[in-house]
Amino acid sequence: MTTLPLPPSLAATLPGRYYTDPELFRTEQERIFERMWCCAVRSADLDRAGAFRTVRIGRESVLITRSRSGALKAFLNVCRHRGARLCTEEQGQVRRNLQCPYHAWTYDLDGRLIAAPNLVSMPDVDRSAYGLVEVALREWLGYAWVCLADAPPSFEETVVGAAVERLGDAAAIDRYRTADLALGRRITYDVRANWKLIVENFMECYHCATIHPELTDVLPEFADGLAAQYYVGHGAAFGEDVSGFTVDGSAGFGTLPEVAPDQDRRYYAITVKPTVFVNLVPDHVILHRMFPLAEDHTSVVCDWLYAPDVVASGADVSKSVELFHRVNAQDFAACERTQPAMASRAYRDGGVLVPSEHHIGIFHQWLREQLG
Ligand code: FES
Ligand SMILES: [Fe+2]
Repeated sequence: MTTLPLPPSLAATLPGRYYTDPELFRTEQERIFERMWCCAVRSADLDRAGAFRTVRIGRESVLITRSRSGALKAFLNVCRHRGARLCTEEQGQVRRNLQCPYHAWTYDLDGRLIAAPNLVSMPDVDRSAYGLVEVALREWLGYAWVCLADAPPSFEETVVGAAVERLGDAAAIDRYRTADLALGRRITYDVRANWKLIVENFMECYHCATIHPELTDVLPEFADGLAAQYYVGHGAAFGEDVSGFTVDGSAGFGTLPEVAPDQDRRYYAITVKPTVFVNLVPDHVILHRMFPLAEDHTSVVCDWLYAPDVVASGADVSKSVELFHRVNAQDFAACERTQPAMASRAYRDGGVLVPSEHHIGIFHQWLREQLG
């Protein structure tokens, strides 16, 4: 392959190995997913004491529980005795305590070791030293975000800051009251692609005219390929004849009560690195959380969130869900089409970005900084 100098209109992408190399993925797990705040679970999914979920963050299994005090707690899902996985299910409910299935060490919902066979005959053992290893947890937008780092980065700067930087206003996202919304639909996508292909795809709209006919019908400016999400404060306007953010442009569910007039009839997309996309439309919020499983495999959980009375009334959300479900399916098919080619010698030195994708270079620069 001969590599020509790039003309000024084009910028370089990352080389193909960034999407295929298991060693590089391991470094990303260590330096990105195990150091940054990652969105783990929806808080309301843990609706009572003893409810738990397990999620994969970096190379760790993280156990999140609702404790008796009502607070959410996160722990490494590892028994302190001989290291058995404490909870093997993705979700469940315990009555009082968490008991290891191997030798029955028992922890309360705050992670304290409270019982173990023969423990009373070992008075020299300080139980408080053998509790579950706690992980930092913060709640925002109705989700529990966890960070495996011993000294987590500022949540305000790295997570909330992404929304403020994108929307240009700290109050703008608060007006959707995302934490008070109810879950209308959840779809989990098993995507056979590297997580960065999914992020890069979300950051550009050069592909919108080609693969998203329903979305560009609702948001005509997306047909021009502009990455509206990268102009601070700009939301893509609904087409004049569009009533709602639905698959056929029919009416949705009005406007969430605090959404400002200048936010109405607009779509805003926010990328919260490394693994979250937040999509704001007048009557609902769509939140994607990604769980990178391997260099070529990512699980994406997408929640559609509506005003509680919409969900409680049993209203049919299918036209509303269908729009972004199609967008997701179209996007992930494009990522899966790209993934195998990352290993081709044609992509050894990478590809190119056209001007409307140049901001993806900022993501690549950020990534390289993280990887050192
Ligand atoms: S490994 Fe958990 S009790 Fe032994
Ligand atoms: Fe897309």
